[in-house]
Amino acid sequence: MLVQVITLFPRLIEGFVAAGLPRIAIEKGALAVQAVDLREFTQDVHRTVDDRPFGGGPGMVLQCAPIFAAVEALERQHGPAHRVLLTPRGRRLDQRKLRELATHERLLLLCGHYEGIDERVRTGMTWEEVSLGDFVLSGGEPAALALLDGVARLLPGVTGDPESTVHESFEDGLLEAPHFTRPREFRGMAVPEVLLSGDHAAIARWRREQSQEITKERRADLLQARESQSVPTEGKPWIV
Ligand SMILES: C[S@@+](CC[C@H](N)C(=O)[O-])C[C@H]1O[C@@H](n2cnc3c(N)ncnc32)[C@H](O)[C@@H]1O
Repeated sequence: MLVQVITLFPRLIEGFVAAGLPRIAIEKGALAVQAVDLREFTQDVHRTVDDRPFGGGPGMVLQCAPIFAAVEALERQHGPAHRVLLTPRGRRLDQRKLRELATHERLLLLCGHYEGIDERVRTGMTWEEVSLGDFVLSGGEPAALALLDGVARLLPGVTGDPESTVHESFEDGLLEAPHFTRPREFRGMAVPEVLLSGDHAAIARWRREQSQEITKERRADLLQARESQSVPTEGKPWIV
């Protein structure tokens, strides 16, 4: 997968993908990331990308011309991409959306800044609008990086054990059961006996119960959504 990120801060993207899981995905050849500096697509000596809003009001707005120029140049070079506009007005990112995005060969992510982006970018080109959550960031980069990281770990061959991305929070509409590792006891806190029993059916049952309990306690909305959507359970013994 090739992910191109149009941004005013390419070094933020480059720094992020130089470490951790995105770097592993790149080394394994599953992912390529290109940070594209929006200022490269300006026409004036000051490399201006923003201007004051028509109608007045605070802040500056990203102009449409450099964005159209960037998208068109990238698509001329690499062919059409699935375009994603990071915006608080978009649909909230979730695991299902990440799985869907991970099926594309090319993603083009656009990070806004200042007060936002000239509306004609949205209406004059096709975008999927995605939000990181119900809060306002100063720029789209943290949202683009969250999306990039979430997608990278779903690409085939990237995580050591493909099962690890299946047995996770949200994949089956539930939050994940707790994990424990050595030592068996730490400061008087013991690992639940069942996990030491070697009884795989009992362990699966315990995990399922924990998962349901935690989801009920913290995210009753997920349980409701799960009931109305009938989550597929084939090959997932931990789902009842
Ligand atoms: C300061 S914000 C603009 C907020 C805008 N004035 C509003 O009220 O919706 C600047 C840029 O950050 C990005 N951004 C901010 N919050 C975001 C979020 N929750 N999800 C995705 N992108 C976000 C968008 O690209 C946005 O254009």
